[in-house]
Amino acid sequence: MKIIADRAKCAGHARCAAVSEELFELDESGYIAFDAKTVPPGMEALARRGIRACPERALALEGDETSGGHDMS
Ligand code: F3S
Repeated sequence: MKIIADRAKCAGHARCAAVSEELFELDESGYIAFDAKTVPPGMEALARRGIRACPERALALEGDETSGGHDMS
């Protein structure tokens, strides 16, 4: 699963980073600092929350199986 960031849409609200600074790194100007980032295992829920928090819809998820996210393995 990956976070896809549309840097052209990012307006520097930093709501994503407020959810997780680790997942949603910002550059020195306060804008999202990557185009795509792999979500580490166990951080999928945080990733979804951060993506939803962006008022510009600059963030999206790639490779989301939408199975509910309860992988018990
Ligand atoms: Fe940018 Fe949205 Fe985060 S505007 S800084 S991607 S909350």
